[in-house]
Amino acid sequence: MTEAGGMESRITQLRAEIRRHDELYFRKAAPEISDREYDRMKAELAQLEAEHPEFAAEDSPVRQVGDDRSPEFAAYRHRQPMLSLDNTYSREDLYAFDERLRRLFERDRIDYLVEPKIDGLAISLTYEGGRFVRAVTRGNGVEGDDVTRNIETISGVPRRLRGGGVPDVIEIRGEVYMSHAEFRRINRERERAGLPFFRNPRNLTSGTVKLLDAREAGRRRLEIVLYGAGYVAGPWVRRQSEVHERIRAWGFPALERVWVVAGIDAAWEAIRELERLRADFAYGTDGAVVKLDDFAMQRDAGYTSKAPRWAIAYKFEAERAETRLRSIRIQVGRTGALTPVAELEPVVLAGTTVSRATLHNEDEIARKDIREGDTVVVEKAGEVIPAVVSVVHEKRPADSAPFDFAARLRELGFGPEEVQRIPGQAAWRLVRAGDPVQLRRRIQHFAGRTAMDIEGLGEAMIEQLVSRELVRDIPDLYTLRFEDLVSLYKEADKAPRNLLHALEQSKGNELWRVIHGLGIPHVGAQSAKDLARAFGSLGALMDASEFDLERVNGVGSVMAGAISAFFKDPENRSCVKRLRRLGIDPEETTEERDDRLAGKTFVLTGTLSGLSREEAKTGIERMGGKVTGSVSRKTDYLVAGDNPGSKLDKARELGVRVIGENDLRELLE
Ligand code: IVH
Repeated sequence: MTEAGGMESRITQLRAEIRRHDELYFRKAAPEISDREYDRMKAELAQLEAEHPEFAAEDSPVRQVGDDRSPEFAAYRHRQPMLSLDNTYSREDLYAFDERLRRLFERDRIDYLVEPKIDGLAISLTYEGGRFVRAVTRGNGVEGDDVTRNIETISGVPRRLRGGGVPDVIEIRGEVYMSHAEFRRINRERERAGLPFFRNPRNLTSGTVKLLDAREAGRRRLEIVLYGAGYVAGPWVRRQSEVHERIRAWGFPALERVWVVAGIDAAWEAIRELERLRADFAYGTDGAVVKLDDFAMQRDAGYTSKAPRWAIAYKFEAERAETRLRSIRIQVGRTGALTPVAELEPVVLAGTTVSRATLHNEDEIARKDIREGDTVVVEKAGEVIPAVVSVVHEKRPADSAPFDFAARLRELGFGPEEVQRIPGQAAWRLVRAGDPVQLRRRIQHFAGRTAMDIEGLGEAMIEQLVSRELVRDIPDLYTLRFEDLVSLYKEADKAPRNLLHALEQSKGNELWRVIHGLGIPHVGAQSAKDLARAFGSLGALMDASEFDLERVNGVGSVMAGAISAFFKDPENRSCVKRLRRLGIDPEETTEERDDRLAGKTFVLTGTLSGLSREEAKTGIERMGGKVTGSVSRKTDYLVAGDNPGSKLDKARELGVRVIGENDLRELLE
């Protein structure tokens, strides 16, 4: 390949990778690589594009602000766009920034404001007439998601601004974050419930802000800190440093420390001081932001397409250390995902001893060519789970071999029919639930406090039941007999009776506990409650279409898809059927049954584009209506899709009301 060809393909590859990581970070809040690695890729791309302008592209991710919008929320256009900042990890870049400004303003020394850069989720709060009206995420910078309901639950957001000098309309900008303490509390709770950990506070923050259920969002304590303004009606202050004073006076949590400095050397000193102080801040800081303090100068300096020329973010390096990777272990999650974990020689990093690091997935291991026995560089920033970033190739043992994920799975006894990697997905999964490790997990979850809450069915007991093959699936719990259990206990009478009693009692549990206990991917306790209320029984839930599921408050398309896939699986179906036969079949009166179509008869003809016939039918029936096969005088509505058949003529002849697919949707809404 020619050098130019190689360069072009590297540029294309970087763009594609960056776009993929943007998607993971902004939309899924589930990054696979550290911010540092991401920034490095972006810097490489920016440099290549600068050196080879012939390959530069308008839509290159280098020139764009990420996009965190989700279809579940109403979009709102910022009165003033929310831009991002140019980032650097190098002191030279910082000095170059200063030099550009000195040249522009023809001055020897410029006044800056140095602020902590908060590692949270950007938010814009609008106040009109001093009253809080709206909270919007950054989105694509121009338009974001309206998340007012969830942001309202944060105690730092005043309903009304205190004191005077409040502009008629003002967008106040800041970051939502979660304290380290709250992050740990939530993860401890998840550990008890047998649920997977949240990876880091930032992801959990954005996940929480984007919850469709504001009550659930309120249960996770988010905090907020405000540092700037977007659109402001009319004149107000002249300097960024005064913005902080105003923000504090109006009753917002403001930055605890900012530095007004003269000249870049003093700014650098301030950054050093921030680096020492930041561990004591309530929020995570991943760097410093150096801004021109004077608004008039900011205006003169202007903007590039995505960032101001009057500010720069200097980011701190995440802490790193070298250590030996002893082995790669494959961990089985509750939903059957097989994730690789690096077992490390313990090393102190960012104040804690690290002996394990995430390796993400098979592709990541291959991309970085990480091998057992390698000396690796491990990185950890704040509460983020440590990650292996690279291999120290000079220290690689002579006899090392590339890690073969599939071969390791075979060594672990997973046959080809038991595990699979779905094309297009990064993770390997267990095909069936028969694996003992996974079975133990499932039962642990089923018996856990936030599910069936079965006393006496702890980890050790479950281990015994599974290893002795007394239990091969969840329903087997309910077929256990006294004789099966006696030999498992030292105290051979009372304890087994207690367990059998607890199991018997759990049959009377509320429906949501059973639903949650099934361990359907994406379905937490709150969603289980919503589903129980909406469907009223396991039978109804099991037969619900995706269309029905999505209509439940709090259930999005991803969850609806997961539930529907779960109940399509014959093993899951038979598990639930068996549970019901064994007497675990609670019912709940469904909330506000909607029977607006009671007594109405519908006939469907032609093809409907947005929903299947089956979905249309269950939708109508759910609201009390009836669907029949042929048109008669008794028919109330004929729903005509594309290419309707003779039923349409018949309906017209009889004067039956003909409606289209959209009308039907409106009726079902
Ligand atoms: S000023 C016109 N100041 O970092 C740009 N941003 O990487 C104004 N951030 O979008 C941004 N702390 O979400 C500014 N003290 C601070 C910040 C800060 C965190 C975030 C913000 C911004 C992103 C840019």
